[in-house]
This record gives sequence, structure tokens and C-alpha cells, in this order.
Amino acid sequence: MPFYHTLGKIPRKRHIAFRKPDGGIYNEELVGHEGFTGTSSLLYHVHPPTTVKSVKRLKETCYEPDPDKALRHRHFLTSKAKKGGSATLDRIPILFNSDIAMLYVEPTKDDEHFYRNAQGDELVYVSKGAGVLETTYGDLPYREGDYLIIHRGILHRFRVDRKVDHKFLVFESRGHIRPPKRYRNEFGQLKEGAPYSERDIRRPMELETIDKKGDYPLIVKQYDGLNEIVLDHHPLDVVGWDGYFYPWAFNINDFEPIVGRVHQPPPVHQTFEGDGFVVCSFCPRPYDFDPEAVPAPYNHSNVDSDEVLYYASSEFMSRKGIEFGSITHHPDGIPHGPHPGRAEASIGAKATNELAVMMDSFRPLRVAKQAMGFEDSHYHKSWIETKEGGFIPPTS
Ligand SMILES: [Fe+2]
Repeated sequence: MPFYHTLGKIPRKRHIAFRKPDGGIYNEELVGHEGFTGTSSLLYHVHPPTTVKSVKRLKETCYEPDPDKALRHRHFLTSKAKKGGSATLDRIPILFNSDIAMLYVEPTKDDEHFYRNAQGDELVYVSKGAGVLETTYGDLPYREGDYLIIHRGILHRFRVDRKVDHKFLVFESRGHIRPPKRYRNEFGQLKEGAPYSERDIRRPMELETIDKKGDYPLIVKQYDGLNEIVLDHHPLDVVGWDGYFYPWAFNINDFEPIVGRVHQPPPVHQTFEGDGFVVCSFCPRPYDFDPEAVPAPYNHSNVDSDEVLYYASSEFMSRKGIEFGSITHHPDGIPHGPHPGRAEASIGAKATNELAVMMDSFRPLRVAKQAMGFEDSHYHKSWIETKEGGFIPPTS
């Protein structure tokens, strides 16, 4: 999405006969959004991508909300969530609204099926893990700290490295996930001063063409459910492609933090934007350098937005009540801020090693029923219960 890319063989012009060695023509497919006017790519398949042998509805995936609507801050401990399974089929919904959903999974096996989300872009934060994302656009190796941006419609499969543990935080977005517009100039190039540049963005770099006939199941998410579609050939049969629509990766450790003499607000940490939400990265950085600066965030009311933080570092393990993998939800309607004594204690601190992923939604989020099984139900009172050793939320 961020810029033009091409892999494999493509013809000299679009929409002309592109001959196979046997004299037949390759099957051209345009994959793009916004009705031929948004970003798109042209792919050249050995076999037509349309040869469906059978279809079946597998299951519904409607997210059910916690029936208790009492407004309060929430805290979920993903360390206590169910482990294992598939990166695509065993995701546990945590929070959701009509724009964005946040899910969590610790996959332990490779998927046999290929997967495509037809109703949302996916952003997969690899909190732990390594492997390869196989796609029709080629292989995209991933590692710890990666954000994988898998736009809707992109067929893919996770090949997980079983030598390491996997922890995936997954966002499903109704709108298109992209770098913030204010980071880009009128030509789309990332500007000087943006916290990352094109060199930090990784694209598929190797394309293997698999020409095989047989039954190949795809699982496609559409209409809030999973559908099985069986193709009569291996779907990774692309010999070449070009365009702006493809999966890409950005590692959180390549985010260049912006610091100031006094506290900088959360927009300096913004990494992506979507329709109805933003994603920010809180990375290790020097603290504010005025001698009287208060590095801890000031209390704030998120008028018009909900704030969700995923604590992505073991740095927080020693901090009371919060651990690696914690997810806090601070909804619109109640202020939040540092725990008692922590603002004063933060004065003079030089640096932080925190690592956290924040998602702010512009419409209220609901807690999914499945997340209640690993909730710290006392969190909303922790600002008065913590007398000593409270933590400094990295939010601003
Ligand atoms: Fe906050």
C-alpha cells in the first residue's frame, strides 16, 4: 500500500495477452478497493482464480458484548487467556465496535487452509513469535515486534516458527489501514519528520509459483462468519504482480520516538490510522528534559474516544497490577491518569523502556463476552487501592 512494488514476471503493458510457455495466456486479476479507484495490484495467475468447486458456511463470528454496561475502566490479562490453535481460527475477541475489533491469539500450529478476510483489513501485532506469512504476493517473513498489515482480500497463511512462542494482537478494521495522512506529502511519500520512512517498510520479496491441481480449501471471512471455499488448484499460482495493494510489515522498534522538553501528547506516537480509530506505538525513549517536567502523563478525559493499551514488554512486569500482555480499556466518560504518587515520583526520571501498542477508537467499544474470563475485575478501583508502587501508565 505505501508505494509501488512488483515481483515476478509481468507483461510490458496492462491488459494485453501475456503468454505462458505453452502458448496459452496467464489469467490477469485486479485486486483493489474503492471500485477501481483506490490502491490496487494486477496479478497474473497460472489458473483462473474463479474455479470454485464448492462452498460451505462454517461458523458465525458475531462478537457478543458483556451484558453488564456499568461504565468502568477494564483490565484483561492475556496471560490467562486460552492458548494454542490456529492464528486465524482461534482468535479471542476482546473489544469491538462497528469500526474496529481487537482480538488475541497464541497460535501453536500452521494453518492447512488459506485465509482471507473479505470484510476488514487486518493489523497483526506480533508481540512474540517469528515465521513467514505466505501470500499470493509472495512470502513476507515476520519477527517479534512486527505490525503485519494485511489488507482485506489478501489471501494468506501463517507458517509459524514452532521453536518460539507466539502472541498475536489482531485488529480487524472496517476501513483501510494506512500511514497517517499528515505523515505523507501530496505524492504519498513519507515526509521528513515522520517517525518512520519507506526504508522501514518491508514487502514480500520472494515469489514462488505453485502450479498444482487438487482440492484447496480457502476460509473467507464475510457476513460476520467463516465460509469454506474449495478451489480446484493451489491458490499460490501467481507468476508476477505489480501495484500498490499488497501485505506489508513495519517493526515497532523502527518507530522513531519524538520527545520534548515537556510531555508530548499521544499523537506524536501515532503509527497508523483507520476509519474511526488510530494506532500508536509507545517505544523506549528519553523522558522530557526540562528539570521541572513531569514525565508521567497528566490526568485526561478521552472525550469522543476510548483508549486501549496493550503492554508489549516485560518491563512492566514489576509494576503493580500490570504485566506483559495486559490490556487496559479506558472508556470515554471517566478520566484516567497516573496512579497516586506516580506523577511526583516521575520528576527527574531520564528514560523509559516501555513498549506498548495503543488503539484509540472514536466510537465506544464494547467488551466481548470471551474476554471476561481473564479480566482483572478490580482494576477500576486501582487508583485508590494503590498506595505504594503504583505504575505510570504510558498513555498520554
Ligand atoms: Fe490515556
